[in-house]
Amino acid sequence: MAAFTTFASFNKEIILLDELKVPINDRAFFFGDGVYEVLRVYQGQPFLFDEHMERLKRSLSAVNIHGVPDLTKDILANIALNDVGEGMVYMQISRGSAPRVHSFHNASLTPNILIYSKPFHEHPSDHEAKTGITAITHDDIRWGRCDIKSINLLPNCLAQSLAHEKGAHEAIFIRNDKVTEGSSCNVFLVKNNVIKTPPLSPQILPGTRRQFLTHSLRADGFHVLEETATKSELYDADEVFITSSIKEALAVIAIDQKPINGGQIGDISKRARELILDAAKSRLN
Ligand SMILES: Cc1ncc(COP(=O)(O)O)c(C=O)c1O
Repeated sequence: MAAFTTFASFNKEIILLDELKVPINDRAFFFGDGVYEVLRVYQGQPFLFDEHMERLKRSLSAVNIHGVPDLTKDILANIALNDVGEGMVYMQISRGSAPRVHSFHNASLTPNILIYSKPFHEHPSDHEAKTGITAITHDDIRWGRCDIKSINLLPNCLAQSLAHEKGAHEAIFIRNDKVTEGSSCNVFLVKNNVIKTPPLSPQILPGTRRQFLTHSLRADGFHVLEETATKSELYDADEVFITSSIKEALAVIAIDQKPINGGQIGDISKRARELILDAAKSRLN
């Protein structure tokens, strides 16, 4: 049986994802030379679509990949083709195919564009929303442009795998004693009802949920600071929660086996998740 019954679009050709053959000379294969986006779909509609597409443009321009057309129609067509009600879209754009040479100077390359979507049978974080998640801390060994959503995710994969090996869900990166972000998420801390998340910088991805929540928590009356936090502030926080398009917002109830909020999900973490899910229901755009 096919591993995926999902239809993908690769350079506009529609093909079953598990039957798709990508060119060996794709620079994504040799160099990880590409960028990507992941969108959450609610009721057949991508959520925070404009924000994701803006970030995609920003990533493309930061790595000098040009000539990518507007993908809106192809994304919506793929969601419809795969009959995705609740689910996700993955899109990846590489610089293009060429014999393996590091430099792309003077090479006239056409980007390779992959899009696929797939339905979720249940929200992937429903269970974790009830139990909370656990995390480890991990040295942030990544490059200096983590604000670009590059497909180079080896340090993230290593860190998250180590978290899983240790029985935790996520790895929270620490650089020079400061919290940056998770291996696949942004991080928020709460202390004395003040919410803190690391400021935008080349060291973190400007998360769509991070942006959404800094605004909507403020609108909800919370004091939200975009400030650095140390590792000991992380351990001492009253609450910690992580955010991403797939997980939305989830409470972290222990870090490096030290309980946060007595190992319980806190009210502000719950509220953060509720704000996103309410918006997803009411503000489908
Ligand atoms: C490293 C990293 N930081 C942050 C995020 C959160 O971004 P978003 O909220 O847009 O999903 C992700 C999402 O995949 C990520 O991989």
